Amino acid sequence: MRLPDCHNIDDFRRLAKARLPWPVFDYIDGAGDDELTKARNTAAYASADLVPNVLAGVETIDTSCTIMGRKSALPLVLSPTALQRVFHWQGERAVARAAEKFGLWCGISSLATVSVEEIADMISTPKLFQLYVHKDKGLNASMIERCKAAKFDAIALTVDTIVGGKRERCLRSGFASPPRFTPSSVLSYATKPRWALDYLLREKFRMPMLETHFQADSRHSMSVGDYFTSMLDQNMDWDTAARIRQDWGGIFCLKGVMSAGDARRAVEIGADAIMVSNHGGRQLDGSRSPFDQLREIVDAVGGEIEIICDGGVRRGTHVVKSLCAGATAASGGRLYLYALAAAGQAGVERALEIMQDEIVRDMKLMGVTGTGQLVPDMLRWR
Ligand code: FNR
Ligand code: LAC
Repeated sequence: MRLPDCHNIDDFRRLAKARLPWPVFDYIDGAGDDELTKARNTAAYASADLVPNVLAGVETIDTSCTIMGRKSALPLVLSPTALQRVFHWQGERAVARAAEKFGLWCGISSLATVSVEEIADMISTPKLFQLYVHKDKGLNASMIERCKAAKFDAIALTVDTIVGGKRERCLRSGFASPPRFTPSSVLSYATKPRWALDYLLREKFRMPMLETHFQADSRHSMSVGDYFTSMLDQNMDWDTAARIRQDWGGIFCLKGVMSAGDARRAVEIGADAIMVSNHGGRQLDGSRSPFDQLREIVDAVGGEIEIICDGGVRRGTHVVKSLCAGATAASGGRLYLYALAAAGQAGVERALEIMQDEIVRDMKLMGVTGTGQLVPDMLRWR
């Protein structure tokens, strides 16, 4: 299977599985406990059906919208994801360039393998930094100051990882950051020579956002779950979030809000947006899916704060259904990560082209010429 054979996101998942050592693939593809929430995140989109209008004259349509005060060519945000240069040596550089080419928000994780400074120098399209609140308050302050200096457009505070999810695939494989070559896993790495040579011979693994305060080198290799549990501030509360918003002073988003009550509190502390998210099912397995929860959130705070539906998105119709249900936009991680792992920047560009094509086709078949015309009456819940 090769890049030209990829016609949807699932094709990229298959190609990524063929190209990656299984511990690395399982880190991307895996989720918490029984992975029920990850599965439901996508399946939820099948519980609502679209009711199109016809004869609407749709030769010319506008798929753009405004997300967190910035123009986006599609109602789709690339969610922040960690360790991208472990998946493909081009890493965040590839994703950022593809995001710029398609005019989309690009999310950069606290656990990124490329610095915010480099990303800011590289692209002019909207950039979001995802902040993990560490116990080390100096590190938190350093990351916020660096985002200000790099003129990032928004900070998203991730609030659903107060402890690490139970990622059983990673427990079995021993996946850690940076990757540990244990006797059981070394074979898996050796069977993927292209990945192994890239990882070993190209630019050394680093985590530039942390290294001012924490050396993420082989002597400190640890699982992501252990990193969360040992490094992140479990006392984080609404006062912490309000203080971070104050310190940052720019566009502020809370990522990982699921309850209507918390959505209300996000409005009260002055957040500009929420990402309704369960972290791609990687944290609390058994959590409701963002799309299932969306109506409750929209009823509670719709019109008072921007609402991004994050997780399980693999199709243009998932984006269209999210907007019909009242979201400002949809967002996703695996939708571009499989493509990154499969084929670097060319892969991510192809995945975004597929999503763009599907969104255009779906809007036309829905009989709308603009994203603002996608309304709840176009959905019927089963
Ligand atoms: C993530 N996600 C994530 N979220 C975050 O706030 N900080 C992070 O560093 C990461 N890292 C990360 C790595 C990988 C491999 C995945 C798959 C996900 C979660 C991500 O932002 C987003 O919430 C989910 O990916 C959404 O689910 P889908 O689109 O992957 O189904
Ligand atoms: C994950 C963390 C890094 O989901 O957010 O793996």
